[in-house]
Formats: sequence, structure tokens, C-alpha cells
Amino acid sequence: MKTQVGIIGAGPAGLLLSHMLHLQGIESFIVEQRTRDDIEATIKAGVLEHPTVELLKQIGVGERMVKEGYVHNGIELSFGGKRHRIDLPELTGGKSITVYPQHEVIKDLVAAVLANGTTIEFGVSDVSLHDLESTQPGIRYTKNGEAQEIRADFIGGCDGFHGPSRQAIPANLREEHAKVYPCGWFGILCEAPPSSDELIYAQSDRGFVLVSTRTPTVQRLYFQCDPKDSVDNWSDERIWAEFRARLANDDGWEIKEGPIFQKGIIAMRSFVCETMQHGRLFLAGDSAHIVPPTGAKGLNLAAGDVVLLTRAITDFYRNNSQDGLDGYSTRAVKRVWRGEHFSWWMTNMLHDFEGEDTITRRFRRSQLEYVVSSRAAATSLAENYVGVPFEGITE
Ligand code: FAD
Ligand code: DHB
Repeated sequence: MKTQVGIIGAGPAGLLLSHMLHLQGIESFIVEQRTRDDIEATIKAGVLEHPTVELLKQIGVGERMVKEGYVHNGIELSFGGKRHRIDLPELTGGKSITVYPQHEVIKDLVAAVLANGTTIEFGVSDVSLHDLESTQPGIRYTKNGEAQEIRADFIGGCDGFHGPSRQAIPANLREEHAKVYPCGWFGILCEAPPSSDELIYAQSDRGFVLVSTRTPTVQRLYFQCDPKDSVDNWSDERIWAEFRARLANDDGWEIKEGPIFQKGIIAMRSFVCETMQHGRLFLAGDSAHIVPPTGAKGLNLAAGDVVLLTRAITDFYRNNSQDGLDGYSTRAVKRVWRGEHFSWWMTNMLHDFEGEDTITRRFRRSQLEYVVSSRAAATSLAENYVGVPFEGITE
């Protein structure tokens, strides 16, 4: 089998890449290890940055997001028993974020990609990459017990943190920067109306809490936990008691409680692989970089990579130019480092870590007080939170 771009992974990065290439008249083929039902039901991200929202509208997959997503014009930072609002449009020249779940983005993209006539091979196994330095690299995989191979002009390695693409770059050519945090996030979905009109990022001596939302009847909430803890240790009553203790405040505001129907623990790490390319293989999204979830950046960074990669591949076919491809990693990683730093900074400002000295805790409080009292500091947070433009980092 032959195609122009072979894509590994039908996550946000792989699906976006396929659809954006299609709009440029470029053919692709996607292999995905999970089933369609599985990828369309996995609960992950919730926050889409301004540039991501504009992109999804521009490429014709934003209709349901506009109808069913929620535009948020602010977030709240809570500490010392008080909540403080950061007004996003006021500080960023009118920009906001949209709460629209990742699995809904996935549904919209899968529908668009299939309508384009592109094949997504679901449920494949044994995926491996070959001949990356040739002009016809290959992807081998097994489907229904049979070995298959696709040859392509380029491979998009969009297979997330644990996929094979990054590992296909020789280890001596990869510089990997990694940091693992000594905490995780315990996430729940519950049947209750939103406790707040806007997201609340809360720092407390018992650890961080994020109050987010999904629909008028479903809330998404997270609390900082031990990454090695198990959801089985947390009864619903214990979870609500922990939320109440961490969200205690002076103004009588209370979290709305309801039946919990999903629980999970996610690890937190910062990770960047430099380079993001090798021969005809190009990494995009979590396969090349991971952020802790505090800044809501992961999916949005994947979108930034895909914009650059689509442009580079289009330029190759249309103008016979290699420049975009050669410079892909150097260009993409600039926006990635901005998101990485912001996520690390938000994580440190909002989480308490076991065994910390008292001076670190005082620094944290001072930082929070500065962010909510200085327009300059609040603007910096807001500008990063709504998302720097895809083209906004100087070369
Ligand atoms: P993935 O979504 O990981 O997709 C990779 C795909 O490749 C998967 O479908 C996988 O099955 C497939 N694959 C893997 N290995 C193979 C293989 N060997 N063969 C074939 N296919 C393979 N980001 C935000 O921007 N905003 C948020 O609010 C936010 N909140 C989050 C909350 C949670 C709880 C979590 C877990 C993440 C959150 N993120 C958020 C991060 C975001 O979900 C990820 O950054 C995003 O999914 C990355 O997309 P991707 O396409 O690069 O990778
Ligand atoms: C959500 C996740 C995040 O990581 C974040 O910073 C904000 C919201 C969410 O899932 O709603």
C-alpha cells in the first residue's frame, strides 16, 4: 500500500494532521491501536485555547464546539480562603478559552477524516517504523492477524508518549529533557451542576484542587494526590470530604456534590524530546512532549505542531521546498517550550510538595499575591493561558 503521509495514532495530533493535509489536497492513511469506540470515549482534556478554537473553526470542524462548548472569559485563583478573578479578554485584547471535552473533538475529527475518504485502520498491533532515512519510509503493523505494510513519502509520529515513533529516532540523536513531579491528579466526573461559572484553580495547605465543568449537569473536578495512590482507596465520601477541606473559604461558597461516575489518577511530568524529526519521520503532540496538566496545554501544543507540519509538507509538494521540513523541529519546539515553562510555573505556584521548606511555601504565596494584584503579572498568566499565537514565538 502507498500513501503520501502515513500517520501513526488517531489522537488529536494524528487526526488534525490528516484533516489539514486533506484540505491541502494531500492524502494520508492512519493506523491506530485502539478501537473507534475506545478513542471516542476516553476522558482527557477539557480546555481549548483561543488559537485552537480558531483553528478548528477555520478547518470546518468547529460547528459542534461552537454550539455545545462553553466560552470562559475568566478563571479564578483561590488561596488563603479567598478567590481572585483573572479576566482573560480584558488582559489579552478580547481572547478567551472554550471548555469542550477532548473526546468530543475526537468525535468531530474522526467524522471529518472518514468523510474525507481517508482510511483509519483501528485496532492494529505490532506497529513499527522502517527506512526513515529513505524517500519511502514504511510503517508495518498487524491487522486481524495479518502483517501489513504502508509506504509513504512522510511519516507523522502522532502516537502519544508511549508510542513507537519517538523510539524510532536513534537514541544518540535524541536529547530528552524530563522532570517527574512527586504528585498526581485524582480526576472525577460527577452528576452535579457547575459549582462556579468559571474554572477555579485552588491552592491549599492540603494540596491543589481544580474545579472545572463539562455540561450543565456534569462537573469535572481534580485534586492533587500521591501518584502511586489507588482510586480504590477513595470512597465518594472521602473524596467529598477532601474537596470540602481544601476549598474552605471566607465567603460561604461551597462545592456542589453529586454521584461520582468516573475516577482516575494521572501522573505529572514535563518532557521534551529534541529533535522532533529524523529523516522522513516527524513527531507531533505527546509523542514529542508532555506537560503537567495544570496549564491545560497538552492538546493545544499538539495543534501548534500540526499547523507547522502541515505547512511544511504542503510547501514540499506545492513549491518543491524542503525548508519547512528541515526547520520543523527548531520552529515547533519554541512554542512547545513556552507551554512547558508555563505548565511548570502554574504547577509550582499551585501545588504543595511534601517535605518542602517553609521558604518555598512563602515564595509560593508571594507569587500568588503578586499575580492577583499586579496587572503586569496577571497579563502574563492570561496571555499564556489563552494560548500564544501559533506564529507568536520569534525565530
Ligand atoms: P494522544 O491523545 O495520546 O493520541 C495518541 C494516539 O496514538 C492514541 O489514540 C493511541 O491509542 C495511539 N497509539 C499509541 N501507540 C500506538 C501504536 N503503537 N500504534 C498505533 N497507535 C498508537 N490538554 C489540553 O490541552 N487541555 C486540557 O485541559 C488537558 N487536560 C487533560 C486532562 C487529563 C486528565 C489528561 C490525561 C490530559 C489532559 N491534557 C490536556 C493533555 C491532552 O489530553 C494530550 O496532550 C493530548 O491527548 C495529546 O494528543 P496526541 O494526539 O499527541 O496524543
Ligand atoms: C481541565 C483540565 C486541565 O488540565 C485544566 O488545566 C483545566 C481544565 C478539564 O479537564 O476540564
